[in-house]
Parts: sequence; C-alpha cells; structure tokens
Amino acid sequence: MTKDEVIGALSGVKYPGLTRDILSFGLVKNLEVGDNGAVSLTIELTTAKPEIPSQIEAAVRQALAQAPEVSIAMNVKTPAAPGTPAQAPKPQSIPGIRHIVAISSGKGGVGKSTVAVNLALAIAQVLAETGVAPAEGSVGILDCDIYGPSIPAMLGLKQARPTLTAAEKIKPCEAFGIRTMSIGFFADDDTPLIWRGPRIQAAIRQFSRDVDWGALEVLVVDLPPGTGDAQLTLVQTLALDGAVVVTTPQAVAADIARRGAHMFEKVNVPLLGVIENMSYFENPANGERAYIFGQGGGGRTAMALGTDFLGELPLAQTIREGGDAGRPIVAEDPDGVPAQVFRSVARLILKKLEKVPSSSNKIDNAPQK
Ligand SMILES: Nc1ncnc2c1ncn2[C@@H]1O[C@H](COP(=O)(O)OP(=O)(O)O)[C@@H](O)[C@H]1O
Ligand SMILES: [Mg+2]
Repeated sequence: MTKDEVIGALSGVKYPGLTRDILSFGLVKNLEVGDNGAVSLTIELTTAKPEIPSQIEAAVRQALAQAPEVSIAMNVKTPAAPGTPAQAPKPQSIPGIRHIVAISSGKGGVGKSTVAVNLALAIAQVLAETGVAPAEGSVGILDCDIYGPSIPAMLGLKQARPTLTAAEKIKPCEAFGIRTMSIGFFADDDTPLIWRGPRIQAAIRQFSRDVDWGALEVLVVDLPPGTGDAQLTLVQTLALDGAVVVTTPQAVAADIARRGAHMFEKVNVPLLGVIENMSYFENPANGERAYIFGQGGGGRTAMALGTDFLGELPLAQTIREGGDAGRPIVAEDPDGVPAQVFRSVARLILKKLEKVPSSSNKIDNAPQK
C-alpha cells in the first residue's frame, strides 16, 4: 500500500458509534509507510470506555488488511474525573450584608426584574417602618441577569456608571435609596452577553469583594431566567440565604417555576416562597377583578414546592409605566395596591430570613478582622 492508499483506507474508519472518521478527529499520529508497504502508526485517544481502543484497533487492522505488516501503538488516556460537589466553589459571602435573597423565574417576561426592584424598595420601606434600618442605604440590588440586565433602566440608572472610592472599591449607583450594581454597567447595550462559568464566577467575586456595599440589611439579586448552567453557577457562587420564585398564573409558567425551585434544592438554598405576578386585572371603573390568565397557578406552584404563597400582584398599567420610566411603582405610589402587596410580601420574606439557620451559606456579618 502507498501512503495515499493507507490514508484513504484510514479515512474510512469511523469512530465507534459516530459518523466521523478517526483521521478527521486527529487520532492518528506518526503515520509511516515503509518502501515494502509496512505501516506503523500511533492512535492517540482519550476515552472512558474500555472497549473503544480495541474496537478502533481492530477496525484499523481490517482497513489495512492489504498491507504486509501493520504495527499500531495505542496511546489511551482516560478523561479527568468530573468535579465532585466537594470541589464546587465555596459561596462568596459579602462582609457587612446580613441577608442575600435571589429572585428567580423559570422563564423571561414574567416580571422578575419588576418584582426584584419593587420588592427591594418595599423591604426598605418595611425596615424603616419597623425602625430596623433607615429607608436609604440599607437595601441593595444586584442585577445578575446576564441575558437582559434591566435593573438600571427600571431605576432610572441607565446612564449611571459606578465610580471608584478612595479605597479603590467600586461604589454602587444609588436610586430611591437602593444601592445598585448591574452586569449591565459593564457591557455595551448592543453586545450580546455570552457569559460562561468562569466569567460569571469572576464577576460575582468582583461584586462581592470589590464593591463597597456598605452595611446592608438585605441584598436582592435578580437572576437570569431559567435553570441552565449559568443560573446554576450563579446560585452556587453567591452566598444565598433564600430564593423567591416569580411566576404568572398560567400552568406553563407554574411548571417552569417548579424546575427553578429544584435548582435551589440542589444547592441547599431555602425557598422562601412563590410570588404570582400579573394575577388579575382590576377594572378601574368598578373595582372588579378579572383573572385573565386563570386563577390559582401561583398557589398550586407553592403547594407543589412545599413552600409558601407570598402574594399576588395585579396586572397594572402603572406597574409597567413605572418600569419603563425608571420610577418603580412602590416609590411612585407607596399607598397604592401594588405597593401594599409588595410590602406585605416584604414582611413575610423578612420574617422568614430571620429564621434561616446559620449555615455555610450564611454571611458572616461580623466585621472582618
Ligand atoms: N404586574 C405587572 N403589570 C403590568 N406590567 C408588568 C407587570 N409586571 C411586569 N410588567 C411589565 O412586563 C414587562 C416584563 O417585565 P420584566 O420585569 O422585565 O420581566 P422579566 O424580568 O421576568 O423578564 C415589563 O415591560 C414590565 O414593565
Ligand atoms: Mg428581567
């Protein structure tokens, strides 16, 4: 056999179970064909399946059956064992922050960011009301939605950029008394954000270590919708004290919310409850409530998850307008129905946070020595 004939024969040898051949996978090394047609080559591969090397060797010998002599050196490596949970990165606690709460949803567009912003404001109002903390500067919001960071716009901070403090820490932007950091502050409007594990972890480390949050009672985190790898990395990397799931009344949304809840279970973050958004439309003329998307989805979701139903929010033009204008409804109309619902949810969440047991996930609130 000539070298060309050998190459032709080898390009017909498929990797077991696949349609591509071993040559195009680059598995054949050191191919030599002697004047007498004797062939020698090395097969280099990484596989965890013990049968693969012998299958490939047999197939190569068959393909080269016409060669007078064939010597094959097999160089087989086994892949590195996948990381065990013990090797997962330790959640990043943030000194000075008492509680970190994630707001999540199974899919986009259910009002997760709207809820995150208004809940942050409502928590601040309740803390002030109960004399626990001043209304300003005691609550923060961290926008981790790598797919669509919308918190800056909702707080009227679209043009704002964080500054550096004298100690070279990043100073969060502030609006309505809420300290704000967003992945959006560090990306162009038009750049699609394709963030993967290591980059997400680096960003979280920066938000935890390099941001001068001050002393916060509560940090609200807006997570990206869904339950993929990016979301899992985030919930593993942040030192979450609890998670709130936002859903709409439809069964589909409720189903997806369930998946999100299982993600938190996996990483031992307690579920604080379910908020149903866009539950009903209240006719301004007569005050009648129309349950446009059906009734009870949020409650059923909560029940299925073994957690509490925290409240239902109306579908209201003022909520949408407040988001668009960068003036959240809870700040804009603190006496309206939405603001009252948000404060009632905030009270429930604060009560639950007090009961969250100290764990490795818990923030060390004592000053760092
Ligand atoms: N309860 C509500 N009533 C009216 N509009 C709402 C309500 N909740 C959210 N919206 C609007 O729906 C859109 C999607 O909300 P957003 O919070 O951005 O969703 P998500 O973060 O889940 O993608 C926004 O325009 C927002 O103003
Ligand atoms: Mg959002």
